[in-house]
Amino acid sequence: MTSVQQPLSALQRFFSADFARISLEALDSLPVSLREFPTGWTSPWELTLLYNLVKHSSGPLRILEIGPWIGRSTTAISLGIRDRESRKDVLYDIVDFGITSGAEWEALLKVPYLNFAGQDQISRTIHAPGGSVAVLIENPRKLGLLEQVTSVIRGDCLQVPMRSSYDLIFCDCVHDAREIQQYGHLLADRLRPGGLLVCDDVIDPTLGKVLAGYVPFDFLIYLHQQDPGSKFCVGRKSVTPGATTMGAAA
Ligand SMILES: C[S@@+](CC[C@H](N)C(=O)[O-])C[C@H]1O[C@@H](n2cnc3c(N)ncnc32)[C@H](O)[C@@H]1O
Repeated sequence: MTSVQQPLSALQRFFSADFARISLEALDSLPVSLREFPTGWTSPWELTLLYNLVKHSSGPLRILEIGPWIGRSTTAISLGIRDRESRKDVLYDIVDFGITSGAEWEALLKVPYLNFAGQDQISRTIHAPGGSVAVLIENPRKLGLLEQVTSVIRGDCLQVPMRSSYDLIFCDCVHDAREIQQYGHLLADRLRPGGLLVCDDVIDPTLGKVLAGYVPFDFLIYLHQQDPGSKFCVGRKSVTPGATTMGAAA
């Protein structure tokens, strides 16, 4: 039987016995109204899951978030740290491009800015003084949560300095197979054996198999199978060196 090790062992109750599903009924509700959260792309149920994974982990915990944008998911993780039994032994690093113009949007994200220019949250954010990273800092600060964030790192996650190993990684920059191939090595390198990886937009076994080509998983759960509105996957990196557990990804 697979088991989740410290500091994540306390999270075992959120998974079904065969690690094929998340046990929704075991999750605590978010402690603040959704209206308090910054706009973004993470669904209420996904926010609830992030909150619970952090809140109910125990002991020292190193968290990496890649692609927080302006802090919607960051808010859920920060609340989880705030509401944890011990929060002093948590390190929480967030890294984002920190986009400051339409030209940067196009250069970094490789998508035409004009397709997004009409979206208020995007246009106002990148043109705010200091660009999106300034808004990313201001949003948790307004909620009294900035103290839960250890470092805000602006830049490309493939290039910026970060810790060598994390227990929990939430990655929101793998939207398709090409991006999984781009960031798969980084995720595999930085996630410690036994650590949990949560990714947005890895919705099914087709993409899950690409990810599992980089990160050997004991289990990989697609939340889309439980809630059509959810696009997260949650996987545990195998503790056995060289293991590839594609059965878990199927
Ligand atoms: C979909 S948004 C994140 C949404 C956010 N998690 C939420 O809850 O609404 C993706 C973010 O990933 C960032 N990003 C994409 N590739 C990146 C990279 N290589 N390094 C750092 N940030 C990256 C983008 O700048 C953008 O802010």
